[in-house]
Amino acid sequence: MSSAIPSNSEQETREIASALARDLAMGSVLLLSGDLGAGKTAFVRGLAAGLGINPDDVTSPTFTLVHEYRGGRLPLIHVDLYRLDRADLDEIGLDQDLAAAGVIAIEWSERLSRSIPGAIAVTVADRGGDIREITITQPAAL
Ligand SMILES: Nc1ncnc2c1ncn2[C@@H]1O[C@H](COP(=O)(O)OP(=O)(O)O)[C@@H](O)[C@H]1O
Ligand SMILES: [Mg+2]
Repeated sequence: MSSAIPSNSEQETREIASALARDLAMGSVLLLSGDLGAGKTAFVRGLAAGLGINPDDVTSPTFTLVHEYRGGRLPLIHVDLYRLDRADLDEIGLDQDLAAAGVIAIEWSERLSRSIPGAIAVTVADRGGDIREITITQPAAL
């Protein structure tokens, strides 16, 4: 199931993500893709808000790779693979223990070396100016 949602501002992108966050559970994985500056981190800030975490705490984890935010309905684990050519899930510790630690949102998920079954794919496409098209693809129901 896939839906394309238009966004006309960073705030709208955050609200779309915040609404999605209500449906997330422990171990939910979101695979974010889109160009630099498209709005992936903005989307993660909206996820944080929807989980009850201060969105201003969310920064681009460019150098640290993984940030974890607690204090919300579920912990949010924010991963950015921008600096990796080819990421190996096990190497960066995204194993099942981490999946059991909260909601995982992965920027530049196209750099992952293997797919994650059951993950939600989120693509943010820059349509010029402040216009973005956000496509959310939910895994097929079992
Ligand atoms: N509709 C929109 N949705 C998200 N970000 C937007 C939108 N319009 C403009 N922007 C701006 O685009 C930039 C997105 O940055 P960021 O979220 O860090 O991108 P990414 O993580 O994909 O590299 C921000 O400066 C944000 O204010
Ligand atoms: Mg980013």
